[in-house]
Amino acid sequence: MSHWKNGHIAPFGNMTTESIVKASGQFSTPIYLYDETVILQKCKDVLSMPNAHGLTVRYAMKANANRALLQLITERGLHLDSSTLNEVCRAHRAGITYDKIMLTSQEVPLGKDREDLESMILEGLTYNICSLQQLDLIAEFAVLNQKPMSIRINPGVGAGESVTRNTGDKYSSFGIHLANIDKVIQKVNETGLVINQVHVHIGSGGDPEMWRDNIDRELEITENYFPNAKIVNLGGGFKEARMPDESSADIQELGAYAKTRFEEFENRTGRKLHMGIEPGTYIVANAGYLITSVMDEKWSGPTGFEFIILDAGMESNTRPLLYGSRHPFYVISKDGKLLSSEFDLNSMKSELDFRVVVGRCCESGDSQSLDYQGHIIPRNMADPSVGDLVVIGGTGAYCAAMSLKNYNSLLQPAEVLLRENGKLQLIRKQQNLDQILENEIDI
Ligand SMILES: Cc1ncc(COP(=O)(O)O)c(C=O)c1O
Repeated sequence: MSHWKNGHIAPFGNMTTESIVKASGQFSTPIYLYDETVILQKCKDVLSMPNAHGLTVRYAMKANANRALLQLITERGLHLDSSTLNEVCRAHRAGITYDKIMLTSQEVPLGKDREDLESMILEGLTYNICSLQQLDLIAEFAVLNQKPMSIRINPGVGAGESVTRNTGDKYSSFGIHLANIDKVIQKVNETGLVINQVHVHIGSGGDPEMWRDNIDRELEITENYFPNAKIVNLGGGFKEARMPDESSADIQELGAYAKTRFEEFENRTGRKLHMGIEPGTYIVANAGYLITSVMDEKWSGPTGFEFIILDAGMESNTRPLLYGSRHPFYVISKDGKLLSSEFDLNSMKSELDFRVVVGRCCESGDSQSLDYQGHIIPRNMADPSVGDLVVIGGTGAYCAAMSLKNYNSLLQPAEVLLRENGKLQLIRKQQNLDQILENEIDI
């Protein structure tokens, strides 16, 4: 698959070398640059996932909670999955009503937070009960106000792209483990609480077959324990290929499987279940590019490496350090010539060699090319000059949102959206030093 045709950086998008160079001139690097065309296409694709009795897609806003992106995505008909009360508030401040938001959280809101949560639920927020304590906290209120609740179950089997992204097995504290189902049933029976949604999220970016197996597991849980459930939420986690040698989950195929299983469930039980999913990565990962400038070059001797030093690194894209994730590199000269792309190395005539991309942080782990144990893995790419651009692809999800902000007092980069009409729109300003310091207090 080529990710670079006729000057376009991705086969499905609008991103070009020209727009990248223009953005780097208009806003100083580093910049997160997002392709609206890709995001809209992804929303369309996911909404067309086959289903038996209706589908609600919730964008997992933890992937990228920029206000403009939340607006763009929800305007296309997606709802939201949020992980904290603050995320709910953030979405609400972006103009999204509570009835389009679900809260799935490790938090146990108390005091003012609890009051806030209750009023949000009264205004339509879906609360996903994730622990026995949360169940105790909310049951009476829910029954009194006739608000059905969702419940997150840990099925005991999960899958993630790395061990740290598996949220469905015994090593994971997310949701109420199936081992505790008796306590849930007891509470439901005692209080008359209505559970109308069963939710399982087994992890992020894992084997699609495990995602498919979870459909059966979750339907079985629903059939055995939740007679009032009307919605089965299968979670997010679709694997997106960021690198040329990776492959994405086939959501049409997964949807077709789910549709069959939901139909069989109906034939068996007479119950028509609505399907829910909540992808984050799938919607935004490949829409994002981190645009950096080459600041310096170094060499660590004949048995060492050629280093390219960029004006962004682990503080702006932490995923390589955190997970050993790989992101594709594109090298673009100052005047907009594509010098190398990891998607088209065979057709590149420039001086390709194995090099190491590092950032500005005072950390040996500040490299964009690490394996999962933190070893540096050199990558084949052109030899850029100081001032050229290195573009790091696949950085729309869990990069701006999950970066090590302000380490070494480095500023959060600006976020820019390449609109469908080719215009560049600033959607978050670059942070300034005053903003880093504003909450500090003199001794
Ligand atoms: C409950 C829940 N839903 C959805 C997601 C989104 O996962 P992904 O970005 O892999 O689609 C996550 C990610 O951690 C999650 O915890």
